[in-house]
Amino acid sequence: MKKIKIVGNRELKGRIEVSGAKNSVVALIPAAIMTEEKVEIYNVPNISDTVNLNNIIELLGGKIEFGNGILKVDGKNVKSMPIPEELSVPLRASYYFMGALLARCKHVEIYSPGGCKIGSRPIDLHLKAFKKMGVSVIKEKNKFVLHADDLHGANIYLDIASVGATINILFAASMARGTTIIENAAMEPEIVNVVSLLNNMGARISGAGTSKITIVGVDRLHGANIETIPDRIEAGTFMMIGALIGNPLCIHNIIPEHVDTLIAKLRDMGAKYKIDGDSIIFEKVEKFLPVDIKTLVYPGFPTDLGQPMAVMLTQAAGISNFEETIYESRSGHFPELIKMGATIEFDKMYAKVSGPSNLKGTEVTATDLRAGASLIIAGLIAEGTTKISNIEYILRGYEDIVEKLKAVGADIEIIDE
Ligand code: EPZ
Repeated sequence: MKKIKIVGNRELKGRIEVSGAKNSVVALIPAAIMTEEKVEIYNVPNISDTVNLNNIIELLGGKIEFGNGILKVDGKNVKSMPIPEELSVPLRASYYFMGALLARCKHVEIYSPGGCKIGSRPIDLHLKAFKKMGVSVIKEKNKFVLHADDLHGANIYLDIASVGATINILFAASMARGTTIIENAAMEPEIVNVVSLLNNMGARISGAGTSKITIVGVDRLHGANIETIPDRIEAGTFMMIGALIGNPLCIHNIIPEHVDTLIAKLRDMGAKYKIDGDSIIFEKVEKFLPVDIKTLVYPGFPTDLGQPMAVMLTQAAGISNFEETIYESRSGHFPELIKMGATIEFDKMYAKVSGPSNLKGTEVTATDLRAGASLIIAGLIAEGTTKISNIEYILRGYEDIVEKLKAVGADIEIIDE
């Protein structure tokens, strides 16, 4: 079995490049088949989610060229074909083909999406919105058949400011008859990135990045290009590593306002950093202050940084309170951190972290993508050797994370045992 092996307690020095945002790219790629013309996406991370989505496009008849971060999609021959379970289940973002194929073909057959086990992760808000837009939704076991004879605009209020539902509605509404208004829309930067591509393709969308988005449907979209924004979650993960063991560590290719809640919390903890344009440079400090964390939708503290942040809290001198408000069971990392010597009382959505704790390396298991990231951080600061299993979770969301950390002095490698 492949594992990530880390010999901890080393300082890291140098510059780490942040890749393109996974949670943008997993929507930009399906969007590309909404036109029969060519679409180019730049700064695309080479991670398994990218490859899985490319495979789906090729199954649908599209052509893919992917190399050096540039993804070229030719959707000319795309037809709506049933998307098999083995292609749609590995990742949650396969559900973006619902909105994209409804827009292009008014028909889609796809299995329930997969994704990290961090909660029930229903797609009821997506389906409720599609039905309001004239889509018939039939569920055969865990396969969905969606069809629209007349895909039309609607006024949609999202009970939860869901990122996925917002993006799926944007796709369908872009080529629906009439106008769609989304209220309580998600405001994440990745949504602004996706709307930039759609508008570059000829869509008529306004309000992206606010809680009210208006889409005037058009008959067709044309080819376009887009640059994927930097991954704010990857950036945040490396920022915490820099705060803990940077000597100094420069994290390059960030958009500071996309990580400003993390910067605020690290500042409150006493981290030492300097922002220089699209870089942030950290120098380790010996003592951190405790802080309270509550994850919220953007622009609040991102749920995806909650798990890595738990490691920071184990190093704070005192008690830090943590509350997860987005997912009902994003707690798989806590037992593993406790095995390494952390003092954490937790239940499904709350944790009380006492510190500072001297973490000790041991065998641990990644339960999901961001839990895996937290174990890498813990391994880097722990005494001794840490071996992390289930690393496919980690490698799907962090491009070349082992190589990037090794290049700045980490004793980290992928082993097979
Ligand atoms: C996206 O997931 C991200 N994934 C998640 O990142 C991220 O945590 C999440 O947004 C919130 O920021 C991708 O973009 C691929 P949601 P998504 O719909 O769209 C509930 C990572 O680590 N909900 O905003 O699935 C849902 O269960 C991943 O990179 C419904 O109840 O998130 C959750 O509790 C993890 N019904 C909450 O809303 C629905 O129809 C937020 O989900 C949809 C969602």
